[in-house]
Amino acid sequence: MPVTAVSGSASGIGAAVCDVLRAAGHRIIGIDRAQADVIADLSSPAGRQGAVAQVLEQCEGVLDGLVCCAGLGVTASSSSLVLAVNYFGVSELLDGLAEALSKGTQPAALVIGSVAATHAGAEQQPMVAALLAGDEAQALALADALAQPHIAYAGSKYAVTCDARRKAVQWAAQGIRLNVIAPGAVETPLHQAAKDDARFGQAVRDFVAPLGRAGDPAEIAQAVAFLQSPQASFITGSVLFVDGGMDAKARPQRF
Ligand code: NAI
Repeated sequence: MPVTAVSGSASGIGAAVCDVLRAAGHRIIGIDRAQADVIADLSSPAGRQGAVAQVLEQCEGVLDGLVCCAGLGVTASSSSLVLAVNYFGVSELLDGLAEALSKGTQPAALVIGSVAATHAGAEQQPMVAALLAGDEAQALALADALAQPHIAYAGSKYAVTCDARRKAVQWAAQGIRLNVIAPGAVETPLHQAAKDDARFGQAVRDFVAPLGRAGDPAEIAQAVAFLQSPQASFITGSVLFVDGGMDAKARPQRF
């Protein structure tokens, strides 16, 4: 039975991923702030280390899969918190569990990014350079000085996608695959909070995909299950948009 750790397992996309992978025969080690096998706060270095230690204990040092779903949206209490969870809460989990994955059977890891990673200018933000350099203090300070949560969100998703792609290249020698799924709008508590937000609600409600609706968490989870399965054995370093056509609409000539 494959053993897969899933962060953000208590809600939304992460909970749907747990359901679909369980149905496919995986043993799940859920990681979240509450209602999970591993209770951890991924916003701090100590919380991330605690998460890694508890997962390693529960999987006895051998992991077949890792799916990083935990994340915060534009309604988070600060921009720095968005970067801390969405970038370092993913990157450090990947680093801390890489050795256990290298001992797994047909190991695969997956990061939930976002179509927001492609927003114009995200890659040029100084906070993104600090993220990719691993300078948490600098990145968090830059994000709070800017105080634009939507830019922090897009920047965190751009950076975490770049980080996953560079790790995919490094990890290939050990046989570990690593991919990114970039969802568009998906009906979850995170998305509902953004729709209800006084500052961002209108823009979020206007962000309608060509298919004319938001996605269901299960539609993301099915794509995760495929990329984590042996059927995807030659796919690594890829970014799969599961967004109802939003990326094709926004950037028809870039892919
Ligand atoms: P959600 O709010 O339903 O679930 C997120 C989970 O992450 C929650 O269970 C929460 O407790 C956990 N989490 C947040 N901060 C944490 C921390 N410090 N430590 C541990 N766990 C923490 O949201 P949703 O929509 O399921 O989001 C999952 C991922 O999908 C996120 O990375 C989000 O950015 C991404 N995404 C979501 C989209 C949407 O429209 N819902 C669109 C594109 C990407």
